Amino acid sequence: MKPIPSFDHPVHEFIQRRWSPLAFDEALLGRETVLSLFEAARWAASANNGQPWRFAWAERDGGERHARLVSCLKPGNDLWAPKAPLLILTVVRTTRERDGAPHPWARYDLGLAMGNLTCQATSMGLYVHNMAGFEAEKAQELFSLPPDFEAVTMVAVGRLGRPEDLPEKLRAREEAPRTRKPLEELFLP
Ligand SMILES: Cc1cc2nc3c(=O)[nH]c(=O)nc-3n(C[C@H](O)[C@H](O)[C@H](O)COP(=O)(O)O)c2cc1C
Repeated sequence: MKPIPSFDHPVHEFIQRRWSPLAFDEALLGRETVLSLFEAARWAASANNGQPWRFAWAERDGGERHARLVSCLKPGNDLWAPKAPLLILTVVRTTRERDGAPHPWARYDLGLAMGNLTCQATSMGLYVHNMAGFEAEKAQELFSLPPDFEAVTMVAVGRLGRPEDLPEKLRAREEAPRTRKPLEELFLP
C-alpha cells in the first residue's frame, strides 16, 4: 500500500487521494466513463477560451490504435503503462486559431485541462499517471499531427492494481512514500 502522506494544511480529499500508480487493474473503464473524463477536460479555463488541447486515446481493447500509442512509450514506461485500461496522448495546438500567431499559454491551458481530467478521475475512483517518457516525434507521425500541433505527454488512467503484479524493480517505487518541498520553499521573496 502507498503510505498516506501527512498534509501540513487541510486539502480536499481528491487532492489527498491522488497519486501516480504504476500498477493498474486491467478492467476496462467503458466509453461513458472515458467521455466523462474528457468532458471535465473540455470545461477547463483557457486563455481567450482558445481550448488548444487535443487528445488521441484508446482503451486497452482498442486494437491498432492502442498498439500505436503503446509503440510510442519509452523504455521503463513500457513495462507498466500498456496494462492501464486507458492511454492518452495529450497534444496542444501551439498557434492561436484566430491569427496563427504563436500561443504562449497553450501548454498552460493543456495543464489546466489535465488538472480537470485528473480531478474528475479521482472523483470516480480512478488514478492518472502522466508520462514525459514517450517518443514525441513518433507520436507526431503516427497520429498525423499538423506542424503546429505538439505532442506533450502520454497518460495512463485506470483503477488501482496490485503492486505484487509489477516487475520486481518497479515494486519498491510503488510503495515508496510521496515527498514534497516544504511550502515555504515555493514562495518567492
Ligand atoms: C509532465 C510529467 C511527466 C511525467 N513523466 C513520467 C514518466 O515518464 N514516467 C513515470 O513513471 N512517471 C512520470 N511522471 C510522474 C511523476 O514522477 C510523479 O507525478 C511525481 O513523482 C509525483 O508523484 P505523485 O504524482 O504520485 O504525487 C510524470 C509526471 C508529470 C506531471
